[in-house]
Amino acid sequence: MSALREAVMSVLATVKDPEIRRPITDLGMVDRVEISSTGHVDLTVLLTIAGCPMKDTITRDVTAAVESVPGVSGVTLSLVPMTDDQRTALRDGLRGGATKEIPFARPDSQTRVYAIASGKGGVGKSTVTVNLAAALAAKGLNVGILDADVYGFSIPRMMGVTARPTRINDMILPPVSHGVKIISVGMFVEGNAAVVWRGPMLHRALQQFLADVFWGDLDILLLDLPPGTGDVAISTAQLIPSTEILVVTTPQTAAAEVAERAGAIALQTRQKVVGVLENMSGLTLPDGSTLDLFGSGGGQMVADSLTRSTGGPVPLLGKIPLEIDLRTAGDAGVPLVLSDPASASATAILEVASRLAARSRPLAGVSLGISPAARR
Ligand SMILES: Nc1ncnc2c1ncn2[C@@H]1O[C@H](COP(=O)(O)OP(=O)(O)OP(=O)(O)O)[C@@H](O)[C@H]1O
Ligand SMILES: [Mg+2]
Repeated sequence: MSALREAVMSVLATVKDPEIRRPITDLGMVDRVEISSTGHVDLTVLLTIAGCPMKDTITRDVTAAVESVPGVSGVTLSLVPMTDDQRTALRDGLRGGATKEIPFARPDSQTRVYAIASGKGGVGKSTVTVNLAAALAAKGLNVGILDADVYGFSIPRMMGVTARPTRINDMILPPVSHGVKIISVGMFVEGNAAVVWRGPMLHRALQQFLADVFWGDLDILLLDLPPGTGDVAISTAQLIPSTEILVVTTPQTAAAEVAERAGAIALQTRQKVVGVLENMSGLTLPDGSTLDLFGSGGGQMVADSLTRSTGGPVPLLGKIPLEIDLRTAGDAGVPLVLSDPASASATAILEVASRLAARSRPLAGVSLGISPAARR
């Protein structure tokens, strides 16, 4: 009988909570397991919150796992919400203590944080963010997106997220879509309501998204910034000083000049500019010729200029052509790098993702004893 019990417990350890993505046995969710002489398993699993949206998934996964054990004749599963004390213990366990802090700001953080910035609006920051995130997650990295565009949030739609975050006391569990953990103001407002926040509130909201959200061990966190060099860019620099900036521009000279300003703010905040991405480059016409709808050369111009002004090499990481499918994929909530990775724009983004993945440290959670300065 104890061998059967051991087999049931070890199969339960393979079931992960769908939101926290850790084994339910590690999370203290398996409360009671009784096995009858005929091999019937009667067990209680604790839910983080009453009316947990993931109830059905947990029921299905636990039942299937236990039924798969040879010798088990049947399963009776009871789901019970955790008590306040159990929830607090879980939250503190996940957080590694009762204190709230921004994990990415810790000196031993293994997460690379990239802020996707631009001078002008509408140049494709959010499109780049979701496609890079999905591409990096598909490579097996742990990736998160913080939609820091509190006024113009568009990440939930582009990633096809309709779920609302689950709360464990004051801890927020980010919904996961296409393998990416996502948090956005859009998940906290009703319908398409507008958000009217001033600087200090904005700062507080970002801080909360960084400290109260359970991100787990991320390899990469992407911050989708609003356009320009405003409060949000400054707040993120203060909250996570190690944030590196990825500047997005169109090929147009006028746009490139504004993009330079967005990148140059890094000089003041002492952040590193990881590179420039030119988006909306040449459009391939049906006859095979290329139309430079928004001009050409903007990306290289910004890269050269930021290399001069910041004193460090700022490469042009890639050029993403104009492509109708890239837009429709965003509207449909499935990034093009997933639905049509061979398309021209997806190919360009996948190359950038590979470059970023190569500089990341996929050993999340494992302290290598490397100082932050040595990581650069
Ligand atoms: N390479 C491209 N080809 C075709 N359409 C594109 C391309 N890049 C972006 N778009 C489309 O252009 C529009 C603006 O893109 P997106 O929302 O990503 O820009 P943004 O910089 O995040 O804008 P905002 O400043 O408003 O946050 C979207 O409709 C998007 O689908
Ligand atoms: Mg945007």
